[in-house]
Amino acid sequence: MIIVTGATGQLGRQIVERLLTRVSANQIGVSVRDPQKAQELADQGVRVRQGSFTDSDGLAHAFEGATQVLIVSVDKMGEQAVRQHRTAIDGAVAAG
Ligand SMILES: NC(=O)c1ccc[n+]([C@@H]2O[C@H](COP(=O)([O-])OP(=O)(O)OC[C@H]3O[C@@H](n4cnc5c(N)ncnc54)[C@H](OP(=O)(O)O)[C@@H]3O)[C@@H](O)[C@H]2O)c1
Repeated sequence: MIIVTGATGQLGRQIVERLLTRVSANQIGVSVRDPQKAQELADQGVRVRQGSFTDSDGLAHAFEGATQVLIVSVDKMGEQAVRQHRTAIDGAVAAG
């Protein structure tokens, strides 16, 4: 399963829309901070799970079963961004 983060943002949403033209919805999962904002994707058969780069346990659940993870960078800079991206990358590695 291909997991995409930031799927309720501008870039992530477009990535998922393009992916849906290439692979079936059940091969796609999204990790989003607010699953309600991804209801439209859930209705199309995409797996929607709550995940934030500030919560490694939640991220482990959101990344479960991933064969690939596409991490969309957050809209922050500096130490906060480094910490969050490190958590996201560690989560992807842990998911295998
Ligand atoms: N748009 C551009 O023209 C442009 C140009 C150059 C670079 N970039 C960079 O490319 C990246 C994506 O751009 P974008 O336009 O798609 O930005 P965006 O719409 O703000 O999307 C950022 C995504 O990151 C998610 N996010 C923020 N904090 C998070 C966290 N702690 N854990 C997990 N996800 C988190 C947001 O979730 P929510 O949906 O819940 O808010 C959102 O979906 C950003 O880093 C941006 O700075 C953008």
